[in-house]
Amino acid sequence: MNSNSVKRGAKVFEKANCATCHISPFFTDNKIHPLDKIRTNPARAQSRLALNKLLVPSKLYTFNTPVPIPANAEVLDIPTQGISDTPTTLPKGILPKGGYKTTSLRGLYLSAPYLHDGGVAVRAGSLNVNSNGRFTVVDKSGLGLTGTLNQGIAADAASSLRALVDRDLRALVIKANKANPGLVFSNIDGTGHEFYVDRQAGFNSNQQADLINFLLALDDNPGSF
Ligand code: HEC
Repeated sequence: MNSNSVKRGAKVFEKANCATCHISPFFTDNKIHPLDKIRTNPARAQSRLALNKLLVPSKLYTFNTPVPIPANAEVLDIPTQGISDTPTTLPKGILPKGGYKTTSLRGLYLSAPYLHDGGVAVRAGSLNVNSNGRFTVVDKSGLGLTGTLNQGIAADAASSLRALVDRDLRALVIKANKANPGLVFSNIDGTGHEFYVDRQAGFNSNQQADLINFLLALDDNPGSF
């Protein structure tokens, strides 16, 4: 990987405000962000809401409790300040409509397809990328899960990350997913997380390519940032 490109990509990452949620060194703020803000497929986020009325206060035996647990064992309350409004309420960010936690970005080079539904998927060879980072789609059949995992073919990390940050390419990936009734039924579409690094967001194709190289370089030892 060209390390100058990775360094320039780190600057793009900051400039595009990615680092406000994906905070170094683990590239997450460990927070759940409301659905209204993230706007990825809502089905899984909303599936948690019904749990709210089932919650009971969290308790814990003291750490010196022996096993088997004696009848008079001491029980502690687990504090939930800063996590949820009361001990029996779902964590902040989930209520009122559901939410998703910021994913760590370490190991992205291994973890395509992207987003919680895995809907942002592009097969290797579907894009032609020139030396300025400008791309054209050369094989539409490789877009979305229809063109990748549904055929037992892996999603390519660099191409799928391009689809994550480029709204025009993402629209094509979403279209491919939505044309597949099985994917629609499973709530897999690759929508949302509308934080783009593309021309409309004021970035050129070189900057987009640098950002992708930076994202691909985030391994277990991403260095200082
Ligand atoms: C408001 C907070 C926020 C901002 C700003 C943000 N993200 Fe995210 N990011 C998230 C959340 C939350 C998820 C998980 C969403 C999901 O899976 O539905 C996520 C997921 C991702 C993923 C997918 C990871 C995976 O393993 O599937 C990547 C890659 C990513 N973000 C990169 C970026 C980049 C690049 C930017 C800047 C252009 C950015 N994010 C801006 C909150 C944010």
